[in-house]
Amino acid sequence: LEEWHISPDAGEAIAVLKDTAKYLRTSDTPVAFPTETVYGLGADATRSGSVKGIYSAKGRPSDNPLIIHISDLHMLRELLGKKRDDQDAIPSKYKVLIERFWPGPLTILLPNPQPSKLAPEVTAGLETFGARMPSSPLALSLIKLAGVPLAAPSANASTKPSPTAAQHVKDDLDGRIEIILDGGPCQVGVESTVVDGLCEPPVVLRPGGISMEELRSCPGWENVVKAYKDHSEEGKSAPRAPGMKYKHYSPKARVVLYESTYKAGDEGVLPSDFEVVSATENGSTEKTNGHTAKRIGVIRTQRWKSGAGLQCGPLQPAPINQDAHDEEYLNPAYSVYKGDLKNNQGQVIGELFDIDLGQDAKRIAQGLFSALRELDRRSIDTIFVDGIENELDIAAAVMNRLRKAASEIRS
Ligand code: TXA
Ligand code: MG
Repeated sequence: LEEWHISPDAGEAIAVLKDTAKYLRTSDTPVAFPTETVYGLGADATRSGSVKGIYSAKGRPSDNPLIIHISDLHMLRELLGKKRDDQDAIPSKYKVLIERFWPGPLTILLPNPQPSKLAPEVTAGLETFGARMPSSPLALSLIKLAGVPLAAPSANASTKPSPTAAQHVKDDLDGRIEIILDGGPCQVGVESTVVDGLCEPPVVLRPGGISMEELRSCPGWENVVKAYKDHSEEGKSAPRAPGMKYKHYSPKARVVLYESTYKAGDEGVLPSDFEVVSATENGSTEKTNGHTAKRIGVIRTQRWKSGAGLQCGPLQPAPINQDAHDEEYLNPAYSVYKGDLKNNQGQVIGELFDIDLGQDAKRIAQGLFSALRELDRRSIDTIFVDGIENELDIAAAVMNRLRKAASEIRS
């Protein structure tokens, strides 16, 4: 696997981008590239061979459609085909969103004309396609130079948390792809918001980088409703965004999410069933409230204070295994702390790893996927996560991803 660090030398960077663009036009193996949300796994959206390459590299079910990435509106209009009376092919409903949020983390659904310029594999048989114009200059330049729209899902192996650093992509797809463009850590950290404005009222199919509140402030979008299933609603009706029915965002570890409503008195303190593990005679661990774990991970956000509520020794900085990309792995550079996990008798029975993502929803979103991946690298059995109380803004996307990652939901 070859990695290209874009050097500050503009000439060299452009040469790399040109080579990659050419590769995209001719190869059936996709290319990983950074966007402002997460890393994408891109291929020429007009060729079946290259689009199939995405599904096979990711191990993604082929009934899950891909998002088309464009660099300008001309490229989008080409996909929408000619309209009678010289009308603009872009539905007027979307004009205000495009004006305000593009380039940026918003995907809109559009009618796919027949015949279509898009390879049929892109849309998985649907009559619409999803499109977005990413704001990452690297992504925009790559699409522009390729001269074709790029179909790109997130560049993780199917079911894993999305990659927010080049090393995450390498961990998942090494040996399956040949090129990763390294643009450093992603700024947003969760995927784009997916909206459908072709129906009335318009709906949000996936919460993401653009919030419900931001959408509602746009003329024609005041009555936008949420059409994704979260949490207890899950399974009650068929999912509208096909991707939502699959296992998602799952590290190897079991994830236990504490929703915002857990009992008072716990404020600022980890829930008491953190004191769950006791040693058995043969040295294995056992417990107590159903949890068995020797290696526990904690992701703190808004309420859990460091060290509180746990049977553990003092927490100390946990230096990361020394491989070349460690500084970029957990982004933006959060610290990992580690302590001994103790049973009620004070015996050490395991290790605890602790990551504090802080209280700011934007920062939490940036660090969420890398924190899940970081804990997986440390072979954690169970990750306890503190949910965000107030689901405004990007917090809605964070909670949506966490609910999908969690094998168990506590309230
Ligand atoms: O931020 C993002 O959107 C990232 C970066 C790489 O751009 N991409 C991404 O793609 O998250 P992916 O494939 O992992 O997620 C695409 C989502 C899925 O939930 C899929 O079901 C939905 O968009 N989607 C795509 N086309 C659709 C369509 N025609 N109708 C309904 N949902 C669609
Ligand atoms: Mg994805």
